[in-house]
Amino acid sequence: MAAKVTVIGSINMDLVAQAERFPNKGETLLGQDFQTIPGGKGANQAVAAAKLGADVTMIGCVGDDPFGQPLINNLKEQGVNHCQVETIEGVPTGIAHITVADHDNTIIVVPGANNHVTPEMVRQYEEDIKASDIVLLQFEIPLESVKEVVNLANQHGVKVVMNPAPIRSINLNLLEKVDFLTPNEHELKILIDDEEKDTFYKDNRDRFFVTYGSEGVHMVEDGEASIVPGYKVDVVDTTGAGDTFNGGFAVAIAEGQSYAEAARFGNAAGALSVSQFGAQTGMPNREDVMKLLNGELG
Ligand code: RIB
Ligand code: NA
Repeated sequence: MAAKVTVIGSINMDLVAQAERFPNKGETLLGQDFQTIPGGKGANQAVAAAKLGADVTMIGCVGDDPFGQPLINNLKEQGVNHCQVETIEGVPTGIAHITVADHDNTIIVVPGANNHVTPEMVRQYEEDIKASDIVLLQFEIPLESVKEVVNLANQHGVKVVMNPAPIRSINLNLLEKVDFLTPNEHELKILIDDEEKDTFYKDNRDRFFVTYGSEGVHMVEDGEASIVPGYKVDVVDTTGAGDTFNGGFAVAIAEGQSYAEAARFGNAAGALSVSQFGAQTGMPNREDVMKLLNGELG
């Protein structure tokens, strides 16, 4: 039976402009291309996990504008259980305003309906949380709702993978309740931004899986520190690479793979995603990831 992963998080429409370079302040620049692509860290991680073989439930909100229903349809097409996605009247769907230039990107996220993923809403889906092998979280919904999910998961003995992005400072009390944290090096600094949290980090290194892009993941398992190396691939678009890593990592942990295996699985999935344009559009399926892990891809 497939591992059960529940994602509580954001659903955005990505409005992606491609240009030869980033515009300067006050400058109007002619771009090359524009696309609207399903995104949002929550939905991206849900789709990644579903493509990698998990039974995925998404809990989130869209607005009743023209972006909402297509995003729900997209989750359905990607094989994500979407009945727990609510449409909020009179509210815009979350969007991400993305510029892709110089093999890099800038992103402005406007949460809209994602702010309606409230602690009350989360409590309505306690049964889904309880039935999960892993709960997967990001920081594009209100932090009080993230906290509520962590508390419910703790109550039911369900483990939590928290991808603290976009990063905000959280209380030690919340940090302590999370089993797996997946910050990048920049996010890690803000996550452990005081002495108490830094001490917690040092005492609980086995909960931190720090991502360094293609370099890999720094982690500790059974008291031993290691770097699980990433895969070098031609970069087309890194948007969603972190989300694909997290989806893959969560699936492998939910399946009971070792921490190192889970990091390797996530790395392979993330690497494959950057060789294609778009966040969800470039996500690999399980077969592709297995081929890369088994050295069958050039
Ligand atoms: O991590 C990439 C995602 O961040 C994009 O899809 C965009 O929606 C933003 O939320
Ligand atoms: Na991509």
